[in-house]
Amino acid sequence: MAEFSADNSNEPTIPKPALRALPSPGRPPVEADIARDNPDLVIRRMNLNESPIQPSPKSIVAMQEACTRVNRYPDPQWRELTAAISEETGIPQHRIVMGNGSDEAIVSAGRLSVSPGDEVLVPVPSFPSYNNAAAVNGGTLVTVPLKADGSNDVDAMIAAATDRTRLVFAASPNNPTGNVLTSEEVERLALGIPDTTLLVLDEAYYEFGIHDGGEDHLAVMAKRTGPWAVFRTFSKAYGLAGIRVGYILAGSDEIANAFQKMRSVFNVNAVAQAGALAAWHDKDHRHMLLEKTRIERERLVAGLTALGAEPFPTVANFVTAKMDRPAADIVAALLKKGVMIGRLMHPGYENYIRVTVGSDEDTDGFLAALKDVLAS
Ligand SMILES: Cc1ncc(COP(=O)(O)O)c(C=O)c1O
Repeated sequence: MAEFSADNSNEPTIPKPALRALPSPGRPPVEADIARDNPDLVIRRMNLNESPIQPSPKSIVAMQEACTRVNRYPDPQWRELTAAISEETGIPQHRIVMGNGSDEAIVSAGRLSVSPGDEVLVPVPSFPSYNNAAAVNGGTLVTVPLKADGSNDVDAMIAAATDRTRLVFAASPNNPTGNVLTSEEVERLALGIPDTTLLVLDEAYYEFGIHDGGEDHLAVMAKRTGPWAVFRTFSKAYGLAGIRVGYILAGSDEIANAFQKMRSVFNVNAVAQAGALAAWHDKDHRHMLLEKTRIERERLVAGLTALGAEPFPTVANFVTAKMDRPAADIVAALLKKGVMIGRLMHPGYENYIRVTVGSDEDTDGFLAALKDVLAS
């Protein structure tokens, strides 16, 4: 066996210096770490915007059956899935590109549009992967603060776009705040961002917005003359975060082809394709998940407000709230009680926590633990 020295000071470095400046992917605490110190704790995962509800039983059966066929490669064009998505969205099948989660689409968007020196426009705070999409390609990040209600400020984004802007990320609902854009706002953005820019509308929480009475933005995005893409995922409303399936609805054949060129050939495995397809067709299960999420979200918002917190308006499966003290202290104290939540890492948001909607026991457990922490 080869021997490796613990001293890595003389190890070779990577040839792409921009990568060195990037933070490594997050390593959130896992149950095992917490349980090691206190095996009796009930652990509540309320930090990653997952669903506490298992996927559709039909999806589980489809995945089990698919396991018997994994000696074969998966369909590299995900035909059954894209046919089903095309039928419901109206986007032609060949303009739908599946990804290993929508995170893969975010990475690809940077690779296909950004060259060194180009500008990438992002709302802040928003999903951190957008920043990486800029940084790994040598792009310059231009940040635009959110509006006070936590939604993207589309007019400020249009004003910040220049002839160097190659990529704009907008999100509705926005993570970490949870608020949506109106179709009127999306239309302004779609028509106001220069045609030399790829406009991405990240709709990872799309289904929650629609369930809450929000508007569908696809038709107004299609009014754009420049390049555009909408990203959605099976991770949230389908309870399938673990199988990693997301998709791109592309605004033109060329944009779809560009995303196709960026991916690895078999990027969505056969078990994941089968599970996503069965979940897509199980509308009752999706409705149940969305409705339970809405009920628990409202209980979380009410409970947080009663404890003096100030939550952003949210339609998503998480609640972000301003607290009266540093969020880092609250997160650490809750972790000791087995409750895993997140906090905002953006300057100016030091007192903001983000809590994923869980089961009804999670809501009660979190609120009781938070009450204790705030009283101490
Ligand atoms: C706004 C947003 N976009 C994209 C993603 C990535 O989701 P996935 O890669 O699981 O599809 C997330 C995950 O939390 C998100 O919050």
